[in-house]
Amino acid sequence: MQLHLDAPSMCWTHSSGRDARTLLEHPGLGVRPADALVPPALADTSIGELWSRWARMNDGPQHAKLRAHIDALLAPWDDAAVTDATERVTERLLAIHPPRGASLDRLLEALPVSVVAGLLGFPPQVHPELVRRVRLLLQATAPGALPERIAEADVSTRALVALVQAQLHPAEPDQTASVVALWWQGFDSMVGLVGNAVLALLRGPHAEHAPSEASLASSPPILLTRRYALRPLALGSAQLTVGACVRADLDSAVAFGAGPHRCPGERLARRLCDVAAPRIVAARTDWPRLESRYRPSHNARLPSFADMEPR
Ligand code: HEM
Repeated sequence: MQLHLDAPSMCWTHSSGRDARTLLEHPGLGVRPADALVPPALADTSIGELWSRWARMNDGPQHAKLRAHIDALLAPWDDAAVTDATERVTERLLAIHPPRGASLDRLLEALPVSVVAGLLGFPPQVHPELVRRVRLLLQATAPGALPERIAEADVSTRALVALVQAQLHPAEPDQTASVVALWWQGFDSMVGLVGNAVLALLRGPHAEHAPSEASLASSPPILLTRRYALRPLALGSAQLTVGACVRADLDSAVAFGAGPHRCPGERLARRLCDVAAPRIVAARTDWPRLESRYRPSHNARLPSFADMEPR
């Protein structure tokens, strides 16, 4: 393996696609810098409290414990249940957000939160509030979020946690955090998966058989993830000191990650996409030829229909 130090980000990068899998499976690499398990800007907030209990942000035995909560939440949702929930939610959302321009962007953001909420038993009238609160949470956890955004999201996230507790009566805080983790993890990634599937379906019949597959072939939604050396490590010719950052670039073959943190939502995500994307395309007959435009992001490839079809 050949690693190169990217000076501006001070993060090691790899050159071959196969290396991403090796890095994500490496036991000497962890998901967070040891001195910042929770980002300092989120310390002492309800957001930091959830973050510290997310499987994505923990390693070792703590990760295994939290991952078991995620798996237990996902386990009852077989393909039939996901299909049913997605059909209902897509129909409802298409009536609220017609699939054009910025309104289609809103629909794509509301879709995964609402499907997961439906599967968890939240009544439809609560879904828009959940979507709004999860969006604020996402904005607050983005790198460089402004203090006022974090403060607003802190208040909102307390209300989100209260909604989860009132609906599901979780026995412990880790379960509450795991419910919110499903929404947080699926938010941007599903905008990418379903949005790129819509574009693939509009471009030709090859995508009809498996829209999610065509979407991933055009681009993985999440382009990269990071790991941090837990101990001094020799990786190829590179000598990594404790805490050194390594970037794993995700191509279509590892779009859902690899190793212990590999996405547990893949099956749900693919089924949701395969059911929703054709319905979104069929809901409109006057689709123009859309030139792909993406939201500004180094980490993700998320279509921006507002930019493809400005008013
Ligand atoms: C509603 C849909 C989704 C849910 C509920 C979901 C849930 C999760 C959860 C809980 C994790 C953390 C697992 C852990 O750390 O043990 C995770 C990781 C991951 N997910 Fe998903 N996910 C969804 C959709 C997607 C999509 C569409 C993609 C991309 C195609 C994706 C890509 C990933 C990747 C790459 C990771 C690993 C991140 C890393 O190792 O740093 N997910 N997902």
